[in-house]
Amino acid sequence: MPQKTTLSIIKADVGSIAGHQVVHPRLEEIARESLEEAKSMGILEDFYVTHCGDDLELIMTHRLGCDSPKVHELAWLTFQKGAKAAEEMHLYGAGQDLLVDAFSGNVRGLGPGSAEIEFNERPAEPVAIFMMDKTEPGTFNLPIYRIFADPFCSAGLVIDTAMHEGFRFEVWDIRAHRRAFFDTPEETYDLLAFIGTKGQYVIKRVFARSDKVPEDEPVACMSTDKLSHIAGKYVGKDDPVALVRSQSGLPAMGEILEGWSWPFLAAGWNRGSHNGPVMLVTMKDNRVSRFDGPPRVLGLGFQISDGKLVGPVDLFDDPAFEPARRQAAELADYMRRHGPFEPHRLPMDEMEYTTMPQLMAKTKDRWEDVD
Ligand code: F6R
Ligand code: MG
Ligand code: MG
Repeated sequence: MPQKTTLSIIKADVGSIAGHQVVHPRLEEIARESLEEAKSMGILEDFYVTHCGDDLELIMTHRLGCDSPKVHELAWLTFQKGAKAAEEMHLYGAGQDLLVDAFSGNVRGLGPGSAEIEFNERPAEPVAIFMMDKTEPGTFNLPIYRIFADPFCSAGLVIDTAMHEGFRFEVWDIRAHRRAFFDTPEETYDLLAFIGTKGQYVIKRVFARSDKVPEDEPVACMSTDKLSHIAGKYVGKDDPVALVRSQSGLPAMGEILEGWSWPFLAAGWNRGSHNGPVMLVTMKDNRVSRFDGPPRVLGLGFQISDGKLVGPVDLFDDPAFEPARRQAAELADYMRRHGPFEPHRLPMDEMEYTTMPQLMAKTKDRWEDVD
């Protein structure tokens, strides 16, 4: 039996340039040096370091399974090295997402976000890795639903016999810390009733119901870490990541990209307190700008081959996505005109920044009862 491969992406904002805009290249170099050393020690099979806006992204393959203390500690120490350099350079938000001083076996609950899948490599294993900035984990709900359950997006759901058997969605209630599974197509309406509330119900994993991959082996996994839930206060945006396996009875890479082909609205723009359109970006535009955004997604494609990462392909680098980018820019304009009004500004209980407690205190004697 060949060894299983684990694909892990672990990310954190440990400091950026010109405010919260983009990771300093030196931090990426430091991360590469750190992961190269781990590769030479046999901890990692392979790695790819990149950024999405102000988030440092560690893409790693290894044989140690999900939640491996060795791999998580490696990521943690790598972020710490980055944070130290960020402090020395006086970068903005140095060490921002490292919420505790001491590592305790796993990065979950300590600040960084992570998504991991352990699997038996198929003869050819194409994967898409999506990284987002200025938004929250539930932003993946809509495209992941479209990719794995909407036949108007993924033609394979209708015309590929394996995909036709449907998918199983693992949904987490990230407020109550519980989970439930939903099978599509027959439980589509139940699934949608939950995942439409994207600030609370978040798709964590997807499984195939055909025999193309083992039933307990995820075909997609998303990070669900909520910084504000961990810290108990606003400390930065969660900026989630996702791994999606593709082809041969799973959605084709083009179907996976089709799930992103129009700019839907997501929460998390400026101060974690505004809705805005998700902009598809290539490596070239992989930094936030206008109003600290708009929220964006970078997609990189790889083949996984005997544990090695072959690639990447810059998945949204295609003129076919220009209309979506243009529409996102127009929607950004439209949303901005609402200024401090909902639905651009988030409802009060979802805002990450608020002056309301102080305002309430200041004006408390002014409020009189009316009939
Ligand atoms: C950060 C973000 C930004 C900041 C804003 C204010 O991920 O979304 O919009 O919230 O730039 O940042 P501070 O409070 O650090 O000045
Ligand atoms: Mg930041
Ligand atoms: Mg960020």
